[in-house]
Amino acid sequence: MNKDVVCIGAGYIGGPTMAVIAKMNPDRKIMVVDINASRIAAWNSDDFELPIYEPELVDVVREVRGKNLFFSTDIRSAVKECDIVFVGVNTPTKMFGRGAGRASDLQYWEATAREIKEYADGDKIVVEKSTLPVRTAAAMEAILNDHAKHRFTVLSNPEFLAEGTAVKDLLSPDRVLIGGPQDEAGIAAIAEVVDIYAAWVPREKIMTTNVWSAELTKFAANAFLAQRVSSINAIAGLCEATGADVDEVARVMGADHRIGAKFLKAGPGFGGSCFKKDVLNLVYLCETFGLHTAAEYWTQVIRMNEHQQERIVSRLFKAMFNTLANKKVAMFGFAFKADTGDTRETPAGTVARLLNDEHVRLAITDPKAIPNAKRDLADIAGDGAGIVFEEDPYVAAEGADAVLLMTDWSLYPALDWRRIFDSMRKPALVFDTRNCLDGEELRRIGFKVLNIGKDICGAPTCR
Ligand SMILES: NC(=O)c1ccc[n+]([C@@H]2O[C@H](COP(=O)([O-])OP(=O)(O)OC[C@H]3O[C@@H](n4cnc5c(N)ncnc54)[C@H](O)[C@@H]3O)[C@@H](O)[C@H]2O)c1
Repeated sequence: MNKDVVCIGAGYIGGPTMAVIAKMNPDRKIMVVDINASRIAAWNSDDFELPIYEPELVDVVREVRGKNLFFSTDIRSAVKECDIVFVGVNTPTKMFGRGAGRASDLQYWEATAREIKEYADGDKIVVEKSTLPVRTAAAMEAILNDHAKHRFTVLSNPEFLAEGTAVKDLLSPDRVLIGGPQDEAGIAAIAEVVDIYAAWVPREKIMTTNVWSAELTKFAANAFLAQRVSSINAIAGLCEATGADVDEVARVMGADHRIGAKFLKAGPGFGGSCFKKDVLNLVYLCETFGLHTAAEYWTQVIRMNEHQQERIVSRLFKAMFNTLANKKVAMFGFAFKADTGDTRETPAGTVARLLNDEHVRLAITDPKAIPNAKRDLADIAGDGAGIVFEEDPYVAAEGADAVLLMTDWSLYPALDWRRIFDSMRKPALVFDTRNCLDGEELRRIGFKVLNIGKDICGAPTCR
């Protein structure tokens, strides 16, 4: 078997994962292919204006692109050339027919499987890198091996990286998971893929399971992480009502090693392309197998997340004297978290729409996400609408009644908040939904301050 690898899908997963695999496996040729020609052109651009922003990614791509990492739209040749085929295409929530709004839309995955079958000129290992429902590998294997000239073995290698820390997570993962059939061909295929990661990941961190366990583990892990976010946000509401401080509560809870400190930060709720989609998929799986109480349980994780964004708007509404119409709000940050330009399912998008319903004049600023924000809000942000986009946060805040901080970019705490205060209409409000600004300093300057999970100003309007 040749050692070369192709990944179909050059997105947030395919691009960074293959760049790191190429860096750590200099003796393998790694190809990344996609049907989206402009995305491939961006990966190949002379000035390294890559299609996604991730800290340190550009350094890795600079190091290996053209040496053993290649981006192309020629899927046919790449599949012919490589015996190990990763598939990292998108698997969004299905919006039609059976399972609409919950199940994964597998049409891109199935189209890819059919391409692999058509182009293959020898046996292939096909590796699911996309997050896929339990038993997808079986369906794919059935399509691939039905009246096929060659043998396809399908493995599941779900990716656990987090956007914003993708390169760091790939270079030192907590674990790598490879699931496969427990027969002779499956075990041999697993060993081939283990070899790729063993170039830099300690062997004890590379975990192998059967294929169903691997598929389910990815959903379960994301559901647990999303549930922690919803759980701490549920406590945050109670903190605001009682005078407790959610950051203090979380600090002490997190010191219990059974609970742990990570993912205990109250905020505007989770976003990103994965958590909502994967929890909804788990709900669908539970329903499919008649586990209705479990389905309701996981549905509440999503409901709590939506509630958090509704609460942000209703608190802003109350704090601004029960009318938002024609008031200017400067939204600081639109990406779903810091250090990414990704805005898929961002809480800021939901909040922007709710504010638009209240006829707020919204100025959105973000260091990396403005192009995506413009695209996401195109239906409500046309000419003459109440939404503008500003690169410069100082300009965004000029004449505003409130700054609504939605993303914890490190540049925001370092701004000159006195200058911002002087340029705003009074009374000037800051709603820091990430609890990342120095609230005491802001109050000294003269701002009225709202946070998530604390009610330091004590006024009923803060709730
Ligand atoms: N984004 C994350 O942080 C993350 C983390 C873990 C797992 N995942 C999973 O990885 C998968 C991909 O996610 P993403 O964020 O990279 O998506 P993405 O939309 O950024 O990238 C997917 C790419 O696949 C391409 N594609 C679709 N159909 C194709 C086909 N038939 N042939 C060739 N290319 C095709 C698209 O053009 C697109 O560029 C999803 O299943 C997701 O759940 C994502």
